Amino acid sequence: MKKMTNRLIPAILAAILVLVSATTGVAAHHGTYKEPKTGILLVTFGTSDPGAQAAFDNIDRKVKAAWPDIPVYWAYTSRIIRHKLAKQGKHLDSPAMALARMAEEQFTHVAVQSLHTIAGSEYHDLTKMVGGFKSMGVFNRIVLGYPLLATQADMEKTVDALLGMIPGERDKQEAVVFMGHGTHHPANAFYPALMFQAQQQDPLVFIGGVEGYPEIGEIRSWLKGKQVKTAWLIPFMSVAGDHAKNDMAGDEADSWKSILAGAGIECHTVMKGTAEVDAFVNIWLSHLEEVLHHFD
Ligand code: CO
Repeated sequence: MKKMTNRLIPAILAAILVLVSATTGVAAHHGTYKEPKTGILLVTFGTSDPGAQAAFDNIDRKVKAAWPDIPVYWAYTSRIIRHKLAKQGKHLDSPAMALARMAEEQFTHVAVQSLHTIAGSEYHDLTKMVGGFKSMGVFNRIVLGYPLLATQADMEKTVDALLGMIPGERDKQEAVVFMGHGTHHPANAFYPALMFQAQQQDPLVFIGGVEGYPEIGEIRSWLKGKQVKTAWLIPFMSVAGDHAKNDMAGDEADSWKSILAGAGIECHTVMKGTAEVDAFVNIWLSHLEEVLHHFD
């Protein structure tokens, strides 16, 4: 009982301090009062492919149209891509650099929106970074938005968006294979879960990963088992960059196109990233909207 009371004292003192400063309007930081200033930080893995950049420009436009009064910043989590771009004179921030910049520019409320597909290791690193800035107390509020796939509602909207990407020329006997990134992270389970739900609507839709289950070997045997002769290959990544061009549609022997061709399955490819498709962008925007609601 006594122990409990002792532990409560600092918390009570802190609460009183907060109440006093809130009611008197006295700010604790050397008398400087910060005008409320909200900013958005969009965080993606990044791309060094100039063509794929169009996908991010699309999101940038949509976010600015939805929140015209809120400044929008970008950060790339991939160090390799940032370094590659820096050599071309394009300087992209890491999340830490962008948040430091926003602190310097006197933002008080920061909505960090992940543009990742799943909450894998990139997202978890971002969670730690946001937590670090939160504990430093440089912003009044800093909140991180979910990636594309977080809730069941996201899964349902994503299934619809995926089915909407399938070209009209596709015959119902032809398979559709989406190439996700895939990961060793436990969040990889989102891909087969999504495939299960997509197959309730279209049994010949498959969702695989370059680096996670189901991989192309499994998909190839499923397609053979269903006597599929033709497949449509579509990226399930925010941009149709390096993985889409080489691992999916490339002419090398280990590309998905070549592997399926080796099993007698003719492939058509669609080169489009999910960030170019409004149905996906709207899901990310809905998560950003939830974050901004915290600041109301
Ligand atoms: Co990769």
